[in-house]
Amino acid sequence: MSSLTLTPAEQALLDGADGPGVQRAMEIVATLGRIYGAPDLVPVKHVQIAGVSYKNLGDAGVEFLNEWAGEGAKVRVPTTLNPAGMELDRWQEMGFSPDFAKPQLSAINAFVNMGVTATMSCTPYLFADFAPQRDDHLAWAESSAVAWANSVVGARTNREGGPSALAAAIVGRTARYGYHLDENRRATHVVEVTCPVESIADFGALSYVVGKAVGDGAPYFADLGAWLPPLPADPTLGGDAGDRLKTLGAGLAAYGAVALYHVAGFTPEARDQGEKLLRPDAKRLVVDSLAAGYEIMDANPETSEIDLVTIGCPHASITEFRRIAEILRGETLATRLWVTTSQITRARAAREGLVEIIEQAGGEVVADTCAVVAPMRSLGIRSMATNAGKMACYAPMHSGVAMRYGTLEQCLQAAISGKWS
Ligand code: F3S
Repeated sequence: MSSLTLTPAEQALLDGADGPGVQRAMEIVATLGRIYGAPDLVPVKHVQIAGVSYKNLGDAGVEFLNEWAGEGAKVRVPTTLNPAGMELDRWQEMGFSPDFAKPQLSAINAFVNMGVTATMSCTPYLFADFAPQRDDHLAWAESSAVAWANSVVGARTNREGGPSALAAAIVGRTARYGYHLDENRRATHVVEVTCPVESIADFGALSYVVGKAVGDGAPYFADLGAWLPPLPADPTLGGDAGDRLKTLGAGLAAYGAVALYHVAGFTPEARDQGEKLLRPDAKRLVVDSLAAGYEIMDANPETSEIDLVTIGCPHASITEFRRIAEILRGETLATRLWVTTSQITRARAAREGLVEIIEQAGGEVVADTCAVVAPMRSLGIRSMATNAGKMACYAPMHSGVAMRYGTLEQCLQAAISGKWS
C-alpha cells in the first residue's frame, strides 16, 4: 500500500464529522485508494450504481442498504441506478411474486432515501440529464456503461463494485488510479478485423472473440471504423453506430474484463492520438471470422421453440425502437417478446408511437429490468432468443435458460413464428 493524501475536508469525513454513514463511505473509498496505490481522491461528476436487483442483493444486501440509509448517508453528486429485478409499477401484472417484489422495493426505497435517482437502467449515457462528457471523472459500476464512458465518450471511470460506487456517491469522490490516469489508457492490443461486421449481433460475436483474447486489456481496433456510420448529433438517440458500440462494450466486459477500447479515427482518444495510444509492447490480434462468437452464443442449436425473445441489452435506444417497430408493424407475435429499456426511453418511444406498434403486435416494452437480472425461471421462461452478446453470455448462466442467438431480424422472425429457423 502507498500513501494516500487526503485533504483536510476529506480527513474530517473519515473522522466522522458528517456522521457514521458518510464515515463508512469514506472508509471504503480511502481503503480502495490505499490498496490500489492512489495518490489522492478525485471529485466525480456522476455515479452509476449496479447490483440493484434483489436477485443479486439477497436479504443481506437489502438489509445492508437500509442500514446505510438509516445512518443518514446521502449522495453528494448525481447518482443513478442500474436495472432492478422487475418493473416497479407493473410487477403484479407481469407475474412477479410479492416475495420478490417486497425486498426489491425496500432496496429501491433505501437508494431513494439516500438521494439516488431511480432510473433503473444500464444506459445512463442515453439520458440527456446524465450523459457524461469527455474527461469527466465518474464512478460507474455497470460494466457495459463503463466501457461506453471510457471508450466512446473519453470520460474516466474504473469498473466500480456496488458498495464502492455508492460510497463514491456519498463522498462525491473516488480514488485516483486505474483508468483515471493517462498512462493506463493506452492500448495493450492492436486488433485488425478482416471479416465483415455489419449487425449488432456481429458486434456481439466480435466482442466474444476479442474479449476472450485480451482479458482485461485495452484493445485498439485499427479498422473497425469502416463498419461504423457517424454517431448521431444527439447521442441520446443511440444511432446505428451507438447501438453497435454499446453491444460491443457490453460483450467485451462480459467475455473479457475490458473497461476501455479505442477505435482508430472514431473514438475521441484514438482520433486525437492515433497509434501513439499503443503501448510499446502492444500485441497484434487478427480477427478473420466471427464463427467462434456465434457458436458460443447460439448455445443451444437444438432448441427451436422459443419462450421469450429479448431485445435491449444494454437497454434499447430510440434507434433500436424505430427498427423494431418498422419490422413488427402489422404483425402478430406467436411468442413473448420483451424489449427492455428505461422508463425515460420508453416514454420517448411512446411519444413517437413506437410502443403502440410493438404492443399491437403482442410484444411487451419492459422498463426498469432485463432478462438477466429478473427471475426468469419463476416467470416460466426456459428458452430465449436474443441479438445481444452480453445477454447470450449471462442469461443461461443466471437463469438456466436455453439460448438462441442471431440478428435482430432473425429474433423478431422467431417472435412472429414462435420458432427459431
Ligand atoms: Fe443491461 Fe441487463 Fe444487459 S443490466 S447490459 S440489459 S444484462
